[in-house]
Amino acid sequence: MSDALLKVEGLTVTYGGGPAVHGVSLAVPSGSVAALLGANGAGKSSTLRAIAGLEKCEGRIVFDGADISHLDAAKRFKAGIVYVPEGRAVVADLSVSENLTLGSYFVDSRTRATRRDMVLDFFPEIANRLKAPAGLLSGGEQQMLAIGRGLMSAPRLILLDEPSLGLAPLLVARVYERLAKIQREHQLTALLVEQSFHAAAKLASRAWVMRHGHIVGELDADSLRSREGRQRAIDAYLGSREEAHA
Ligand SMILES: Nc1ncnc2c1ncn2[C@@H]1O[C@H](COP(=O)(O)OP(=O)(O)OP(=O)(O)O)[C@@H](O)[C@H]1O
Ligand SMILES: [Mg+2]
Repeated sequence: MSDALLKVEGLTVTYGGGPAVHGVSLAVPSGSVAALLGANGAGKSSTLRAIAGLEKCEGRIVFDGADISHLDAAKRFKAGIVYVPEGRAVVADLSVSENLTLGSYFVDSRTRATRRDMVLDFFPEIANRLKAPAGLLSGGEQQMLAIGRGLMSAPRLILLDEPSLGLAPLLVARVYERLAKIQREHQLTALLVEQSFHAAAKLASRAWVMRHGHIVGELDADSLRSREGRQRAIDAYLGSREEAHA
């Protein structure tokens, strides 16, 4: 895929106990959303963190045609790669507004202002709480703030680690609706990690399934969009506990 914004080749991440990610290769075209699916401990977060420059790894990471494997996390951030970690990654003692500003530390004031308007437009829930300490927001609002903060620097690629984690189904749907809107209106390029197949399936146009550090399956847009395709993938790769929703 020559027009890929992100290309990962043979990525291996090794912790004390051996490799957690084994030779993972994937590519994300510009303007599209891709998903990395898999159960607990599959190696999804390790893969995202390695792409963001936060884990030592082997293999090659190419971003917009340039090999960035040797760049540290700060340089990758400046190149436009933003990582939104799993969990409620907001600074609890700082206000909502200050959390947003943190996400735009390196950008000029005009970008900061336009991005802030954009983020508050997409997430009105947090627009009404700008002065509140982030720690007082609900789980769903904190997740919106974490994503919003990630968008503040106008990233070229956003890496989202389990945006649905710990959220009630209705809130998961809401967060994903907003992401879909942002993707449509701003041609967002994203690689997202999910345990929940359903959450990711409607947003992503391709997905890889990880197990024990390996990619064991790949789904294209058609399989993700059709109930049968999703069910086949769930049965084959994730076990039949999950059921594909229409
Ligand atoms: N910093 C670390 N040091 C040692 N081992 C780690 C470290 N981080 C992750 N691991 C191990 O690497 C494996 C993959 O972990 P990772 O967090 O990438 O999985 P995951 O797919 O994101 O899982 P989850 O869905 O539970 O978040 C696991 O066995 C985990 O215990
Ligand atoms: Mg994880």
